[in-house]
Amino acid sequence: MVTEPPDPHALLSLAVALAEEAGAVIATRLSGGRVRVDTKSSVVDLVTDVDRAVEALIVERLRAERPADGVVGEEGAERDGESGVRWLIDPIDGTTNFVYGVPAFAVSICAVAGDEPAAGVVLDVPRGERFAAARGGGATRNGERIGVTSKAELPTALLGTGFGYDAAHRARQARALQRVLPAVRDIRRGGSAALDLCWVACGRLDAYYEDGVQPWDTAAGELIVREAGGRVARMDGARPGSVVVASGPALLDPLTRLLAEALHA
Ligand code: IPD
Repeated sequence: MVTEPPDPHALLSLAVALAEEAGAVIATRLSGGRVRVDTKSSVVDLVTDVDRAVEALIVERLRAERPADGVVGEEGAERDGESGVRWLIDPIDGTTNFVYGVPAFAVSICAVAGDEPAAGVVLDVPRGERFAAARGGGATRNGERIGVTSKAELPTALLGTGFGYDAAHRARQARALQRVLPAVRDIRRGGSAALDLCWVACGRLDAYYEDGVQPWDTAAGELIVREAGGRVARMDGARPGSVVVASGPALLDPLTRLLAEALHA
């Protein structure tokens, strides 16, 4: 049963409420000190009981508020819906930072209506920064409008990137980086793809690229970049379409040209 297309602003209000509640739980657990850490796909891929508890909380709230929607979460939540709306949830993007006490991790929630992201929120819990966008409504940080940079030249561009959890995949990412790093101003590895995208959206980075991110890492951030006036592209990397590239409007073409060469060197 597919009903009326939902209002992106109504979806955003719900996403923000969920992210704020999740952020409060994360902050409480952080100050409480006891976090249980496990590994997932490899010994470097961490998950905590806080990731799992926060995902369960968000899924429970969504079931109560919008029972006909689908849900996909990083920690395994998966429910088909019949409304045409699907929620992509990363309860803590930047889990390694969270475990080590590095203050750069976020709750990321995106509502996708049909095939189009309709609303997204990325809540940087330690900094108390909330990035948000509803389709067609622009992007904000703590309620203030944000925008991407007008950077057009790679040699003076500050880029963010990230690395996966598989050793062979990392070696491939390192080979690409060998080509990219000499061609740009510098590289940042913040440890949260969702925040990297939001930092492109607000001009703290000129661009971001990464091979191998998951939809729950980037869906909200991609919408926020687009609504901040930026562009987002997909390129072939380790898998077809596995590379996400985001930047201001003028930098995307030179960056994708550089990456096309670097990723397949
Ligand atoms: C990871 C972070 C990291 C990126 C990885 C992601 P997680 O998400 O976003 O910055 O480089 O590709 O898997 O595991 O912390 O939710």
